[in-house]
Amino acid sequence: MSKRKIIIDCDPGHDDAIAILMAIISPKLDLLGISVEAGNQTLEKTGKNALNIVSYLGKDIPVSLGRGYPLKRKPQICAEIHGESGLDGFTFPNYDKQFDKRDAVAFLKDILLENDKVTLVPTGPLTNIALLIKEHPEVKSHIDEIVLMGGSIGHGNVTPAAEFNILCDPEAAEIVFNSGLKVKMIGLDVTRKVLVLPEIISRMEKYQNKASIMFTALMKVFNENQKKIFGFSGAPLHDPATIVSLLDEETIHFEYMNVEIDVSGGPSYGRTNCDQFNFLKRKPNAYVATKINKDRYWDVVEDCIKRY
Ligand code: RIB
Ligand code: CA
Repeated sequence: MSKRKIIIDCDPGHDDAIAILMAIISPKLDLLGISVEAGNQTLEKTGKNALNIVSYLGKDIPVSLGRGYPLKRKPQICAEIHGESGLDGFTFPNYDKQFDKRDAVAFLKDILLENDKVTLVPTGPLTNIALLIKEHPEVKSHIDEIVLMGGSIGHGNVTPAAEFNILCDPEAAEIVFNSGLKVKMIGLDVTRKVLVLPEIISRMEKYQNKASIMFTALMKVFNENQKKIFGFSGAPLHDPATIVSLLDEETIHFEYMNVEIDVSGGPSYGRTNCDQFNFLKRKPNAYVATKINKDRYWDVVEDCIKRY
């Protein structure tokens, strides 16, 4: 069976790191490249983290930097969850991998024009993807679908209304959701159901390979920080849900509906208004995740970790 071609656009970030770890090792996926944006930390830190992750895991995946700030609003980071480095809890050796010479938009454009049926997997703010679609509409025919972590049908995780990735750049999200491309939105409604509980850490820790070691170290800090803020008994492992949905289509259930991004700048700025019951009779524009099979989710994560 031919591998599915994907590109990850991310802001590593503890959960981004696990999504990359899974995409690198899965025999079902061909990770063509990684583009990075600011989000969980500044671009300088998220970029360095991306280089370190692929170097540590031993796969020479090209990594390209975005511009480091949103289309319109002021930048924000999430150091309270991801720490000063953006990947607190794990120290990498010094590597000499360099960034791709192209900026993220040129990098993404070139890879897409060289390939067909590519799945874009954004796990951070959507700035790079929005700029790509706006500046190079010719790439749209090369994109199979966009499978993103972001948004929520219910309440947010940064404001009562908004989830972090969307709130970081609502105007970019509006461009992506209205692009006419197939968008699959995996939001907090399902990712809050897959918590990295202590028994999950023990389950992955037992392999003691490089993936297991990195997972364990990162998740222990991720958990501590999430507990301080949300009181969770385990951190929601958000970003890998994108990869899990590609590796086991039965794990996550989607419903097709209209999603409108609030770009009003008011108290609901950055909210994904998901019209699950079609109140407004608008044309659906996204497949929104509404259910997740927790057992299958962790089976897929474990299957990737033990392959290292
Ligand atoms: O709201 C969760 C999302 O914001 C995840 O992608 C996490 O890495 C942060 O980027
Ligand atoms: Ca992320």
